[in-house]
Amino acid sequence: LRDFPLFEHLDEEYLAEISNLCSERMYSKGESIFFEGDEGDELYLVISGVIQIYQDNHSRDVILSIFREGDYFGEMALLQKERVRSASARTIEKSALCILKKRHFIPLVKSKPEILIGILGTALDRLRDANKLITDLTILDVRTRIARMLLRLTEQHGVPSADGMLIDLKLTHQHLADMTGTARETVTKLLLDLQSEQLIRNDQKKIIVCNMDGLRNILDTI
Ligand code: CMP
Repeated sequence: LRDFPLFEHLDEEYLAEISNLCSERMYSKGESIFFEGDEGDELYLVISGVIQIYQDNHSRDVILSIFREGDYFGEMALLQKERVRSASARTIEKSALCILKKRHFIPLVKSKPEILIGILGTALDRLRDANKLITDLTILDVRTRIARMLLRLTEQHGVPSADGMLIDLKLTHQHLADMTGTARETVTKLLLDLQSEQLIRNDQKKIIVCNMDGLRNILDTI
């Protein structure tokens, strides 16, 4: 638990206490964790793996966010009385989650205001990201949205590689389509374009951004 920014201020004794209240659960790739509209009584901390938070509109998914180790989710239904899950959660890769029940979580945030302030700060960061996403989806064309999404993924999940920045997530074209509000076929075509312009390349189901400035130029030309 020490590795979770949410708990970084807590002393060892308190961490051990929380750790005793948590249980670990494994999820296979593509497994659902909960659905929008469900009643929620658990908070999820990501130990390993990758999770997508999404809304399902007439069987078209919109991915709101992607979480990985050190992140947490599911706090909204716990902190807002009589509110259900605001979105669905499903694994993108096999994942291990640490689960904290509402009956343990609520006394915890009541006794440690710094945890609540941390949760508020994270919620506001997520609101900022959501604002950016709304603006992107509203005003940018598809090629620009994809360029912007690749840059954002590079910032959040990029690791340096020999010829650029590797986005360290195995995302399908369908995932990218669900993140940019377009069709899978469009993503496939536009990624091929970006590849032939030598801005990106594929490496074992992951994308390497070879030319960050080239991608940024796409944004500057709008
Ligand atoms: P909850 O509503 O309980 O269940 C879905 C969870 O997804 C929610 O709590 C948050 O933890 C998370 N979530 C919902 N919307 C967003 C968003 N726009 N960005 C990041 N995370 C979100």
